[in-house]
Amino acid sequence: MVDSLSGKKIVIIGASSGIGLAVAKQTAELEASVVISSRSQDKLDRAKEFISGQVEAIAADILNEDSVNALFERVGSFDHLVITAVADENLLRSPLAEMSTAIAQRGMEKFWGTFFAARAAVKTIAQTGSITLTSSVSIFKPSRAGGVSVMSAASAAVAVFGRALAAELAPIRVNVIAPGVVDTGVWSNTDSQRSDLAKWAEESLPVQHLGQAEELAHAVLSVMTNTYITGAILPVDGGLTVM
Ligand SMILES: NC(=O)c1ccc[n+]([C@@H]2O[C@H](COP(=O)([O-])OP(=O)(O)OC[C@H]3O[C@@H](n4cnc5c(N)ncnc54)[C@H](OP(=O)(O)O)[C@@H]3O)[C@@H](O)[C@H]2O)c1
Repeated sequence: MVDSLSGKKIVIIGASSGIGLAVAKQTAELEASVVISSRSQDKLDRAKEFISGQVEAIAADILNEDSVNALFERVGSFDHLVITAVADENLLRSPLAEMSTAIAQRGMEKFWGTFFAARAAVKTIAQTGSITLTSSVSIFKPSRAGGVSVMSAASAAVAVFGRALAAELAPIRVNVIAPGVVDTGVWSNTDSQRSDLAKWAEESLPVQHLGQAEELAHAVLSVMTNTYITGAILPVDGGLTVM
């Protein structure tokens, strides 16, 4: 069975850019009513311009439990939750021996934000609905570039949390997407570094291109709408893990 999204209410945290924004565009096109959220109301209002359909923008900080609780109180009953929020990932890279405790603790933020949002969401999400979390392909294949050990641990925590919730929250379905290298704001560095990444993908990845937010969003929609998928950790990585 594939669940229709028409008339369904979908909350996406991390939707002002990247994968979250692509999920918002695709679900709105399928006639869902979409709530987009991230920290910045300005960014959300700009993102809204790119989404055609029924969309509401509500700012919230996933790392602040009061803010997250207020978001879900305002949303009320809804059907599907997607969490893609993360900030400054590339600024948190550090070799282990030099990693400060502050940076290491920030590296785990992705898990805590996911926890705050999932905990608040279960009060009002439909039993027929779903939760999609975002991990990383680094849980299967550690980055050779290094400096991401704690962030990889946070992504692993998100993935295992998702599988545990699939059992605990059933019949609500819970799945985890594990992106490879995707051309989004997390790589907000210079154009030359970005083109180096694109070149690496063309020459090295089995699919011969860098991941696009739309490709990841398509995977999110698959697990959201397929009523037989729960507890899955889905790598969407262009074949990075088979290289
Ligand atoms: N892109 C990749 O190569 C890649 C690889 C592996 C895993 N991932 C994972 O994919 C997910 C999505 O990343 P992306 O590539 O789409 O990045 P992105 O374009 O940078 O999007 C991140 C989103 O999170 C929001 N955000 C940041 N901090 C937040 C907070 N504290 N509370 C609420 N919203 C917050 C940002 O908006 P505001 O600034 O408005 O808050 C933005 O909408 C992340 O979990 C990332 O770890 C990405």
